Amino acid sequence: MLELNGVRKSYKRKQVLQDVTFQIQEGEIVGLVGENGAGKSTLLQLIATAMEPSAGELRLNGNRYEDDMKNIRKRIGYVPQEISVWDEYTVEENMRFFERLSWKRRSPEECRQLCLDLQLTQWTEPVHALSGGMKRKLNLAISLLHNPILLLLDEPTVGIDLKSKTEIGSYLKRLAKEEGKTILYTSHDMDEILSLCDRVLSIGEDPFYFELLQARGIQVERLY
Ligand SMILES: Nc1ncnc2c1ncn2[C@@H]1O[C@H](COP(=O)(O)OP(=O)(O)OP(=O)(O)O)[C@@H](O)[C@H]1O
Ligand SMILES: [Mg+2]
Repeated sequence: MLELNGVRKSYKRKQVLQDVTFQIQEGEIVGLVGENGAGKSTLLQLIATAMEPSAGELRLNGNRYEDDMKNIRKRIGYVPQEISVWDEYTVEENMRFFERLSWKRRSPEECRQLCLDLQLTQWTEPVHALSGGMKRKLNLAISLLHNPILLLLDEPTVGIDLKSKTEIGSYLKRLAKEEGKTILYTSHDMDEILSLCDRVLSIGEDPFYFELLQARGIQVERLY
């Protein structure tokens, strides 16, 4: 359902991504690993349509990004590495604000249910009073408002406790296995990757992650 062919990205003269080619099938949970600065966030931003590649082609369900950008954007949910919600507002206000901006209309009950599905129960609490893990859950719930088919998650569980991590993990599994959503996500947590991902893509010059995962028997493909 997602297909990249010879994708490259340079910032000014600095080449960050070189010739990235891979495919992901519907309903797969795929991990993206690599050392700091390897280009994971850059790659997710390209797939999320937040940036354009310097070269190469991206397709979603066969449609080329450059031909159908607006429709492709509607089908993608993206959670950036940095938490991006309104700190002064409550969970409810955040959900309703982003619902107004979303492509799809959702009732307040549906918005609340999305949060409850993630075990985020502090509906009337201001976001600044939430823990880091709760904020990440809110970010994730917001990215699901328009019912995307492809979810791109940039380190969605960084710095959060094991319980929230497990809850987010089971929720993502449910989204993929029951609702057929496709998930591409980055993490530095190898245990989490082992328990969650169907397979892994590794990027970067250093084969450290690739060799580590291979040694642990997980299906891993080295992009460069
Ligand atoms: N807007 C930008 N302008 C110039 N260089 C950038 C920009 N964004 C990222 N880079 C550079 O591109 C490279 C890849 O960055 P990126 O954030 O994609 O890495 P990453 O794999 O996500 O790292 P991390 O694990 O630290 O999140 C880095 O060398 C970074 O300095
Ligand atoms: Mg990053």
